[in-house]
Amino acid sequence: MRKRDLPFHESELRWETPHYPIAKRFDDGYFSRDGGRAESREVFLKGNDLPARLSQHAQSGTGDFTIAELGFGTGLNFFETVLLWQQVLSRFPAAKAKLRFVSFEQYPLARADLERVLRPWPDLLTLCRTILQPWPPISGWQTYETDHVRLELAVGDANSLLPEWTGAANAWYLDGFAPAKNPQLWNARLMQLVASKTRTEGTFSTYTAAAQVRRDLMAAGFEVTRVAGFGRKRHRLQGCLKAIA
Ligand SMILES: C[S@@+](CC[C@H](N)C(=O)[O-])C[C@H]1O[C@@H](n2cnc3c(N)ncnc32)[C@H](O)[C@@H]1O
Repeated sequence: MRKRDLPFHESELRWETPHYPIAKRFDDGYFSRDGGRAESREVFLKGNDLPARLSQHAQSGTGDFTIAELGFGTGLNFFETVLLWQQVLSRFPAAKAKLRFVSFEQYPLARADLERVLRPWPDLLTLCRTILQPWPPISGWQTYETDHVRLELAVGDANSLLPEWTGAANAWYLDGFAPAKNPQLWNARLMQLVASKTRTEGTFSTYTAAAQVRRDLMAAGFEVTRVAGFGRKRHRLQGCLKAIA
């Protein structure tokens, strides 16, 4: 059997260390070996200026702030975002605002694998057990709802499911595996779709600085900035949708 024909939900992983997962299909790790949680906060949360923007949203907003992600993976980015949102709401307990998190994932992890990844982080494991019920999700759109967070998981190839999504994001997390190992999740058409589903002044952030990704994001209409990367990565990209003149 070829690797890409593995049945759905069969373990996607091999383990480099007891809690560090490698995706068998892509031969790549799910997050930085230099610290997954720190990477998530630095690259995706700060890279989209979320500590400030979510505070502003909680103070001024009703309605929702939407974050969209390519690649749910272990949920680390999602859980770190929920923790940030909880901190923000603890400062503004009267806030009516909601966080909407939409993530595209073709190969959801088996529950046992997900829990094994999260076991070193009891706070994240608790969030996982509270929010991700039932898990694993089946193909198509699944919604997980708590008081202040709505997670919409699109299970399948983002290339097919993103065109179906009628929403638009305030911030994007572009978190596929390395572009060289998974070009399907970084192609020019997909970046155009990402841009077309980004709100005015919406942003993106990613851990990669691959030249083709940078070109595709610029061609799609983003102002792209190359900044210092996390851990052993020299650079990464972040940016904002250009205003239409
Ligand atoms: C680097 S991991 C994501 C890490 C994740 N954000 C986290 O916080 O753990 C990349 C993810 O993209 C998913 N993926 C790869 N190709 C995809 C595609 N065409 N459509 C949707 N998801 C895809 C993989 O299954 C994997 O879970």
